[in-house]
Amino acid sequence: SKGTYEFYMLKEIDEQPGVMRHLSQDYLDDAGHPVVDKNIVDAMSKADRLYIFAAGTSYHAGLVGKDLFETLTGIPTEVGYASEAGYHFPMMSKNPFFIFLSQSGETADSRVVLKEANKRGIPSLTMTNVEGSTLSREASYTMLLKAGPEIAVASTKAYTAQVALQAILAKAIGENLANPNAKNFALKEELALAAEGIQQIVDGKEKIKKLADEYLIHSRNAFYIGRGIDHAVALEGALKLKEVSYIQTEGFAAAELKHGTISLIEEGTPVIALISDPITADLTRGNIQEVASRGASVITIAAKKLAKYGDTLVLPNIDYLLSPLLTVVPTQLLAYYASKDKGLDVDKPRNLAKSVTVE
Ligand code: F6R
Repeated sequence: SKGTYEFYMLKEIDEQPGVMRHLSQDYLDDAGHPVVDKNIVDAMSKADRLYIFAAGTSYHAGLVGKDLFETLTGIPTEVGYASEAGYHFPMMSKNPFFIFLSQSGETADSRVVLKEANKRGIPSLTMTNVEGSTLSREASYTMLLKAGPEIAVASTKAYTAQVALQAILAKAIGENLANPNAKNFALKEELALAAEGIQQIVDGKEKIKKLADEYLIHSRNAFYIGRGIDHAVALEGALKLKEVSYIQTEGFAAAELKHGTISLIEEGTPVIALISDPITADLTRGNIQEVASRGASVITIAAKKLAKYGDTLVLPNIDYLLSPLLTVVPTQLLAYYASKDKGLDVDKPRNLAKSVTVE
């Protein structure tokens, strides 16, 4: 039940520290090694390429998964929209392995791809929040997100669970393949930092509500920008904000804005910049200057170790690969308050259903 919460979305945002702790307890042993079905680890270790298929927010989690799998396992990884792959099947490597990310486990677009994979004998794993769901029954293997039921139409805790569980799986495969990056990745400690960091962010939600009220609710449009893994989170932040607040929002690789879309920046256009990639932080700051000088109202969300005087929100430090677990949370809260403070039905945005069972 919603308890004292007005909407499930905020309850589910607040539950994320607990989700991080549960995943750590259930999928990591005391020494911090992943506890994952050996059959899954063996099958994936044999793959020469991983293919992640999903839709919407789960697709955005898959973009983060690509970085996790490639860094920790060394296996090249592709991410695709299930809706596209179903009818334009990507060229396959010799030993592909498919990963389906789906909160509900019922997304029709993903089922089309899985059916084709099964026809071709390609092994597959479904990561889902729903035990016994269709995608879980039809895939070779299943891993459960264990995030607890997600009721709000806008996905929040399933996204962070998907990121964390992909990290766990990537470390399991990487350790099996003796990949030094996997061995050195202190995932148990990092997931503890994620739990604490998310808690700190949600405890500061009043400040985020004020930002939504001041910069977003009166605006027709908005932009999220970021580079590297921050680009993946920019796409997710934009989807979240537009779907629940009806403010047209686009996520961009920070430098791409100047290749055309910067013409949309006017006095007061909100641009939310994410800065957790150490390699590109200064370049992103340059892109912030470009939009600010055209009148944009810039909100900067920066990791502590990269923060500069004047940043709007400073987030606790965490390994770059897991930074989406923190950066996504202010984007969820901005979306929540923009919707709620416009008087909208946060949990049930118009035209949307919780699981999309048609193509
Ligand atoms: C956005 C949202 C959707 C879903 C998408 C896939 O907040 O919830 O974009 O992520 O419909 O759903 P699942 O993960 O159930 O396959």
